Amino acid sequence: MIKHILITGGAGFIGSHLADELLEQGYTVRVLDTLSEQVHGKEKKRPDYLNPEVELQIGDVRNANDIRIALEGIDAVFHMAALVGVGQSMYEIREYTDVNNVGTATLLQALIDHPVKKLIVASSMSVYGEGLYEDIDGNLKEHCERKLSDLKSDKWEMIEKENYLKPIPTPETKTPKLSSVYALSKYDQERLSLITGKAYNIPTTALRFFNVYGTRQALSNPYTGVLAIFASRLLNDKPPMIFEDGYQKRDFIHVKDVARACRMAMEAEQSNGEVYNVGSGNQYTITSIAQKLAEVMNKDIQPEVNGKYRVGDIRHCFADTTKIKNELGFEPQVNFEDGLYELAEWLKDQIATDKVNQASTELESRGLTV
Ligand code: NAD
Ligand code: UD1
Repeated sequence: MIKHILITGGAGFIGSHLADELLEQGYTVRVLDTLSEQVHGKEKKRPDYLNPEVELQIGDVRNANDIRIALEGIDAVFHMAALVGVGQSMYEIREYTDVNNVGTATLLQALIDHPVKKLIVASSMSVYGEGLYEDIDGNLKEHCERKLSDLKSDKWEMIEKENYLKPIPTPETKTPKLSSVYALSKYDQERLSLITGKAYNIPTTALRFFNVYGTRQALSNPYTGVLAIFASRLLNDKPPMIFEDGYQKRDFIHVKDVARACRMAMEAEQSNGEVYNVGSGNQYTITSIAQKLAEVMNKDIQPEVNGKYRVGDIRHCFADTTKIKNELGFEPQVNFEDGLYELAEWLKDQIATDKVNQASTELESRGLTV
């Protein structure tokens, strides 16, 4: 029976909500986390939001000894520790590969000596690259990629033979197409875990999260998810800065739903060796979420569309959620408007240092915005 659970990276946004979910269901939770400066600030102190019942071990997934200690008495592991910025991954290549790929390899190496009853690895929708499309005749288009020359002349949509392709929900069966160092590292984490799990009889599941939002997302990290970045801009009375034309679409899922999906995947035997999308199945344009967020935060600020392409970004991707629904019975419960109101309430007590201009300069100086 599973009772004692380790969450690597569990002091972060998703991991801390997962800890709450697991504790509520009667599990015990240990967290292994470096409290990285970009997420937790200079003081590197235990985050106030982290449930007091969590046993926090400050340590690094790349350090075999830290992992060995963290695994003592553990029945199941959620591997969440990672660096998460798509844009930043394009210039911090070594660091991203080190933490994400080597960190996972170090964990798996330790699991050979300390096998657990379940391993769940946090993968990402970014492994798909572009989502799935169909052409005007209804043919599926798997391998879409935009041309730099089109992007330079503000042609943002996916075009084939002068016809627009239509984005449709992306299932787990879509062939991965990795378009950033981050995406490559997530795919590596996923495959490495599934391969090792199979070889050593460690039941393993990979969850491909779509765009997760909610309280506790690091507001002063300019490389975090788009809603947290927009929130930080609005808190500082500045307009959210939007890449491309703002009509790119993503699938936003509330962090509490993600935490529940994680627990359900851990508890279900059927998930062993499988990969699941964890999304809401709904699609939102980036401009619409900037406007909705300003509205719930009571800020009369319109976003600024900069018409630039961030290297590594995809145009559209949203989840086909059939598999997780049919096999694990998981369906999201938090509606987007309610989730945004909850986020706005939390934001009222937050202070955010806006580092967006600094991050933009960083990307621009390296030719990573076009
Ligand atoms: P986060 O940055 O809030 O949390 C990551 C945690 O990992 C942080 O607490 C950080 O201190 C810790 N960490 C970083 N390097 C570490 C190391 N070397 N050793 C131990 N701990 C380390 O990010 P998050 O949004 O909670 O993401 C959690 C996981 O989910 C990541 O694997 C991410 O790739 C994946 N994911 C997130 C999203 C999203 O929308 N947020 C979407 C898809 C996948
Ligand atoms: C995000 C996550 C990634 C996760 C993936 C899964 C981050 C940093 N990235 O990637 O970890 O694996 O979801 O779904 O959390 N945008 C703006 N202005 C900004 C920031 C972003 O317009 O200030 C745009 C981007 O160009 C992109 C969209 O918003 O078109 C989403 O960006 P982002 O939140 O970084 O998410 P993903 O790249 O989808």
